[in-house]
Amino acid sequence: MSTMTDRLERTRAAHKYRMLLVEEIQLLKEQRNAVVLAHYYQTPEVQELADHIGDSLALAQAADRSTADVILFCGVHFMAETAKILNPDRTVLLPDLNAGCSLADSAPAEVFARFLAMHPDHVVVSYINCSAAVKAMSDIICTSSNAVRVVNSIPPEERIIFAPDKHLGAYVQRVTGRRMLLWDGVCEVHVNISTDKLKLLMSRHPEAKLMAHPECPEPILAEADHVGSTASMLQFVQRDPGMSFIVATEAGILHNMRKAVPHKTLLPAPAFADNQCACSECPYMKLNTLEKMRDALRDLRPEIIVHEHVRIPAERALRRMLDLG
Ligand code: 13P
Ligand code: SF4
Repeated sequence: MSTMTDRLERTRAAHKYRMLLVEEIQLLKEQRNAVVLAHYYQTPEVQELADHIGDSLALAQAADRSTADVILFCGVHFMAETAKILNPDRTVLLPDLNAGCSLADSAPAEVFARFLAMHPDHVVVSYINCSAAVKAMSDIICTSSNAVRVVNSIPPEERIIFAPDKHLGAYVQRVTGRRMLLWDGVCEVHVNISTDKLKLLMSRHPEAKLMAHPECPEPILAEADHVGSTASMLQFVQRDPGMSFIVATEAGILHNMRKAVPHKTLLPAPAFADNQCACSECPYMKLNTLEKMRDALRDLRPEIIVHEHVRIPAERALRRMLDLG
């Protein structure tokens, strides 16, 4: 059985190891002239090393503005791919190539192509959570920050296909009043938030305001005081006079929120499956670690490659969104 002194020694050794790793990453960043972009769902230690932390839209914009030689994207594959589409001449790295996304996986390019062939004469709006190949088949891309604005920018007489998130699509339909043909995809993390457990939590904290990401199913959105992207939730919690909030999205955002409003109470919405934190965690986002960041900067891989025949039409659809501002 380990003594208190043993445990203390192990904690000190782990702390020293982490400090060395952080130093190594910072040195490699300088040597490579690299910028580190991190999504709010990354672990706190990854977020702390980032030059920019943001939602999908802010990170796509940061990638677009970047002048660094290397972009180390701490997020999931479609995000790093977006950075590469916008920066074909730069090296874009993803610490772990297995960091995928259930939404992107729900729309395989060949199946999506057949679906579009069956429904011609539609404007194709794709949520940024999709592969480069699906972006290349789309007319315009949107994120959870601008989906309503993007759909509103399409002339009312046009018919619209919205892919791949059916919950975000249904939410945009409700807000804009536009009928759209919805692809049947979901985010496995946001549909794993338990409405029953959430209602119980709300009844125990009647003072708490509910913020929900539009990837959540409608019964959750219907209860929410604020529906929006990760970045908009972060703004809401700072602007709103309330002192207590329930956060219905991936738990990584809590790190940044707690820093922004340390005096407020933030409660993660409970997931169906009981896990360590009883909250919602994206298993793909959490694949990125400090060790993998160090290895990626040292070895310049795993590198994201997008072939020009896919990249060029995908960039066109992305630029249409970015041009909306
Ligand atoms: P936003 O950061 O754009 O809100 O998206 C959340 C998400 O699920 C990204 O995978
Ligand atoms: Fe994809 Fe959902 Fe994970 Fe976001 S939280 S990366 S939408 S699986």
